Amino acid sequence: MQRLAPALREDNVPTDLISLIETILAATKEISFLVSQAHLGDVMGSTVDENIQGEVQKKLDVVANDLFKDILLESGLVKAISSEEEDTSVSGEKNGKFIVSFDPLDGSSNIDINSLIGTIFSIHEAPADMNASDPDMFKQSGNKQICAGYVLYGPATMLVMTTGSGTHFYVLDRTHGGFSLVERNVQVPQDTQEFAINMSNQRFWQAPMQDYISDLLAGDTGPRGKNFNMRWIAAMVGDIHRVLTRGGLFTYPADNKNPEKPFKLRLMYEANPMSFLIEQAGGLAMTSQGRIMDIEPTDIHQRVEVIMGSKNEVEACLGYYK
Ligand code: AHG
Ligand code: MN
Ligand code: MN
Ligand code: MN
Repeated sequence: MQRLAPALREDNVPTDLISLIETILAATKEISFLVSQAHLGDVMGSTVDENIQGEVQKKLDVVANDLFKDILLESGLVKAISSEEEDTSVSGEKNGKFIVSFDPLDGSSNIDINSLIGTIFSIHEAPADMNASDPDMFKQSGNKQICAGYVLYGPATMLVMTTGSGTHFYVLDRTHGGFSLVERNVQVPQDTQEFAINMSNQRFWQAPMQDYISDLLAGDTGPRGKNFNMRWIAAMVGDIHRVLTRGGLFTYPADNKNPEKPFKLRLMYEANPMSFLIEQAGGLAMTSQGRIMDIEPTDIHQRVEVIMGSKNEVEACLGYYK
């Protein structure tokens, strides 16, 4: 089985980017170990703090964030980092060639129930003419990502990553401690009979999403003429992994539960990296208004509507917004 570095060299990934990816993976291996031991120690439960997103932080959110941040900043490879758990960007090496955005632990509500969680990351080139402490460096569209991926701390610790030459699956092989390639050029099936949405928000959605989902629920006697199955892991890493593996539509649509916060998922840490992975696997990653990766960010913590997955199903959904 091919190991990670030779697989990346085959895709012509430059040496310094391979070093950065290996640094990120060193952090995720530590997090993987940590989460496997967490129920034995005192890192379960919540802190007394809220993050900039207005969420109560789990202890493990903070531990994973600090670990990831420290390893990246010590590497000397990054000019700055930004994280879901940090108020603003954090500067690193002034001549660093890269900037990294990350969600140290995605699916925080699954931590205490020993269920699926992961880490999501996105890499851009650092603009040479900007100061390392300037958070505006991160205001680059998803189109400019040079690498994106996630590590899933499931029964197997899996890495799903793209550097722009397809989306590949790797597994952490604990016999040698490195990631090995298990599937090259994953393809999202274009059609699906499966969708993922938090149904409890139904009454808060806009009319087009209400109509689309009710047509799916109508099954084979409804306008879609087929039955649909629903799945919701409450961790985007898990739901997107299922979509990449066997197809599906994943959405966190706009809602009016809190009029000041119509969207839930974060552009930099969740939507953009997942969009890059989905598009590289032949899927679509959209808002109701256009491509996610075309969005020019205005704020590092901005949130966005997300409709992604199997191409034909995403198009069917968007048809309701026309
Ligand atoms: P995080 O744990 O990093 O804050 O992200 C949670 C996100 C995402 O992973 C998931 O799809 C969604 O929130 C779950 O939302 P609900 O709690 O509404 O199900
Ligand atoms: Mn969170
Ligand atoms: Mn998340
Ligand atoms: Mn998180």
